Amino acid sequence: MAQLTLSDHRERPEISRHFQPKQKMGVIRADALKACRKLPDEFFSLIISSPPYNIGKNYEKKIDFESYLEDRKTVIAELVRVLKSDGSLCWQVGNYLDQGEVYPLDIYFYPVFKSLGLQLRNRIIWHFGHGLHAKKRFSGRYETLLWFTKSAQYIFNLDAVRVPSKYPGKRHYKGAKKGMPSGNPLGKNPSDFWALLQSEFDDCVWDIPNVKSNHPEKIAEHPCQFPVELVERCVLSMTCEGDWVLDPYGGVGSAAIAALKHNRRAVSIDRDELFCEITCRRIVDFYEGNLKMRPLGKPVHQPSGNEKVSQVPIDWKTEVFPI
Ligand SMILES: C[S@@+](CC[C@H](N)C(=O)[O-])C[C@H]1O[C@@H](n2cnc3c(N)ncnc32)[C@H](O)[C@@H]1O
Repeated sequence: MAQLTLSDHRERPEISRHFQPKQKMGVIRADALKACRKLPDEFFSLIISSPPYNIGKNYEKKIDFESYLEDRKTVIAELVRVLKSDGSLCWQVGNYLDQGEVYPLDIYFYPVFKSLGLQLRNRIIWHFGHGLHAKKRFSGRYETLLWFTKSAQYIFNLDAVRVPSKYPGKRHYKGAKKGMPSGNPLGKNPSDFWALLQSEFDDCVWDIPNVKSNHPEKIAEHPCQFPVELVERCVLSMTCEGDWVLDPYGGVGSAAIAALKHNRRAVSIDRDELFCEITCRRIVDFYEGNLKMRPLGKPVHQPSGNEKVSQVPIDWKTEVFPI
């Protein structure tokens, strides 16, 4: 069994298909509630998950909204039990939709977490530039990630996730530090607005806008996976090396991969055996250097205006809209 040290974190750990606290990685095919009930108290430093939204994706059965929230509440109570006292719980959600009416899930989940004693640290906006075009309301271009901690004593390694400052050359213009650089040489706080690349996931277009190509991380069999980059920022800022990370709705293992990539340990639960198998395969690919991932912090692609797809089509030319 792999011992966890800094030097061996690129050695592939044994992937257990059950929870084994002495191992580094567990991929469990099970219902989230049943599996979480078997996990120990106060064990995980970070729980990060995107639950089913009850919108009829092929991995879920749409039920009435009240029952959906009640079901999740039971799971969340278990998650709070298994979370360490200095740990963090990140809950990533979008909207539930019913006959065109929008129910932002974070609004409904917030009181559930609050009633279980968790404290909100950030409501992070995860913005993506593209997606479905709505016809009877404005097109949705963000989801949210609620970051809760179990107590006021929690881990937050800001330096691990700083991003380049826009104006690193700024200096104090008065006071004792007058003339000295005013920023942080490690960069600035990334803020609670994260523009990561869901657009490229949805469109399967990356970097070369007029050529259809798969996003490097996209798994054909899964309809909505996390970009590994989204989880990495949480792993790096909210945990330390060797800590345990849990995703109770693990899908194809993006949270587990982000954890392993930074020498943490991980448990990924999903009730779908195919997704669990893909998770195992992605972990093997990662350790063999074959898993394509978008690099952490890579700037979002901005079209130059010269690409064919950036130009107004000649077909739209009219007198009022000359091209
Ligand atoms: C929104 S997806 C999560 C995707 C994941 N973040 C990733 O990056 O691949 C929700 C996942 O929950 C799983 N799921 C749905 N109901 C479940 C349940 N009761 N127990 C465990 N997993 C469940 C689905 O199979 C699906 O993969």
